[in-house]
Amino acid sequence: MSVPAVILVGGEGTRLRPLTESIPKPMLPLLDRPLLSYTFDHLRSGGVDRAVLACGYLPTAIEEFFGDRYDGLALEYRTEPEPLGTGGGIRFAAGDIDRTFIALNGDSLREIDIRALLEFHRIRRAQATILLTRVDDPARYGLVRTDTRGRVTGFVEKPPPEEIDTDLINAGMYVLEPEVLERIPRGRPVSIEREIFPALVEEGTLYACPLPGYWLDVGTPASYLQAHLDLLRRSRSVQVDGSALLGRDTILLPPVTIAPGAEIGSGTTVGPFVHVGHDARIGDRASLRLSAVLPSSELPADTRLARAIVAPGIGALHP
Ligand code: GDD
Ligand code: MG
Repeated sequence: MSVPAVILVGGEGTRLRPLTESIPKPMLPLLDRPLLSYTFDHLRSGGVDRAVLACGYLPTAIEEFFGDRYDGLALEYRTEPEPLGTGGGIRFAAGDIDRTFIALNGDSLREIDIRALLEFHRIRRAQATILLTRVDDPARYGLVRTDTRGRVTGFVEKPPPEEIDTDLINAGMYVLEPEVLERIPRGRPVSIEREIFPALVEEGTLYACPLPGYWLDVGTPASYLQAHLDLLRRSRSVQVDGSALLGRDTILLPPVTIAPGAEIGSGTTVGPFVHVGHDARIGDRASLRLSAVLPSSELPADTRLARAIVAPGIGALHP
């Protein structure tokens, strides 16, 4: 049976400014595709066929790009009149959903088995199940303690150092029963992490399931760059679109991807680990490695860059 999804995409992406001043975080390009399209692909792989986008900041940029369908996924948009937080946003967008559904943060990359998460939830007869992942630095996330069956015994959002006693954190994807929606107060901002999950812990109806697979929260310039490097690592090759222009003596060191319409100057070295977005221009004698050049960016001649994000109208950021 198919399961609907509510995707939180309303945040302002403050940690990614100035990149998110005119583009909402879910629309930031990752190898020339909006970040959110990777989430859509992931949901499709788990059998999801309907997604409601819980919008807030710059909603029209998302709706105008994707419209009402992505592949086999039907898309709907609900924009909060003012930010309602993660819990309030889920309730507002869920509308008439009256069966088990998935809710998720729209700013992460995940490659985990959604069907396995649903099955875990069903077998436990949980009210809510949180997908868990392991990280080195739980302080930036929601820390989750469980017993051996996966029942959550503690949820601490952004834990202080003395509270960190596990490396398992909330991966920002949940299976929820519709009854959970009624527990989210209306008319004010509500954080599902700080208010709703702790209440469910008290009742013993919240479960959590660690599943293997790639996971990354793209919340900061450093993790946005990391997302590019991780995807480039998989290709291990040099991919140059036929409409890109390469100068004389350009050296490409894999992995490198060069998108349509990009122009690379003479004597320039690109790579390893570089993506050049569509219609970007890199001047002569430049050198770039471990970097992401966003579409339509310009980089002057003789620039030397490592570990940078280059954005149009902004230039090079060094996360
Ligand atoms: N609609 C709506 N309304 N969406 C919102 C709002 C709101 O008021 N506030 C935040 N969001 C969206 C953001 O756009 C993002 O997709 C998601 O909710 C989570 O917000 P973030 O601000 O990115 O939270 P975080 O990354 O600090 O922490 C969250 O994600 C971690 C994993 O990536 C928490 O869920 C943590 O517990 C979790 O570990
Ligand atoms: Mg986030």
